[in-house]
Amino acid sequence: MAFNLEHQQSPVWVERATTAVELLQAVPLEGTLRIADVGCGDGKLKIALGALDRPWTWAGFDLLPQDVLVQQFDITTDYLPDQAFDVAVCLGVLEYIEAPAAALERLSARVPLVLFSYSFPHSDEPVPEWVEPRRGRDDIIRCIRDARLERCAMSACTEGQIELSLCRRKAE
Ligand SMILES: C[S@@+](CC[C@H](N)C(=O)[O-])C[C@H]1O[C@@H](n2cnc3c(N)ncnc32)[C@H](O)[C@@H]1O
Repeated sequence: MAFNLEHQQSPVWVERATTAVELLQAVPLEGTLRIADVGCGDGKLKIALGALDRPWTWAGFDLLPQDVLVQQFDITTDYLPDQAFDVAVCLGVLEYIEAPAAALERLSARVPLVLFSYSFPHSDEPVPEWVEPRRGRDDIIRCIRDARLERCAMSACTEGQIELSLCRRKAE
């Protein structure tokens, strides 16, 4: 199935959403945190946000919306609305994207913070068909730099195989 969606109820994906919420808890902004969940899938993050101990709003975007409330959106071409969100969250999406730096730059053109995950399967495991091409941690650091972002916080889950980075636009 497209984009590994047959696995979307996997505990690993739930753990990833929970780890994202922990990072969102620490975002140093006052007031309601307005979250754009890009590539939101079945809305797992929205459910995990129930544990977020601060006011928040959630809006879902996906190439293949699974709910009428989710807006159709292609991270490879589309821009989020200007000033509508504080943070764009992108969990388990960049692995499918040919040009992840351009996608991150497009998100951060309209939203000051971007929180994304990236999966680094153990090198002795067969390459899943959805990781194309396989990228390493250095590639992702380069990607953050090419998108003109800087990482302000990070976390990991699934025994370190999935890393989450909270990034902001680099000062000019
Ligand atoms: C592995 S699922 C992750 C879903 C969700 N973020 C989660 O953590 O449960 C990848 C999601 O990215 C979406 N996706 C793939 N390519 C996309 C694109 N170009 N633009 C927007 N969404 C995309 C897929 O439709 C799918 O819902």
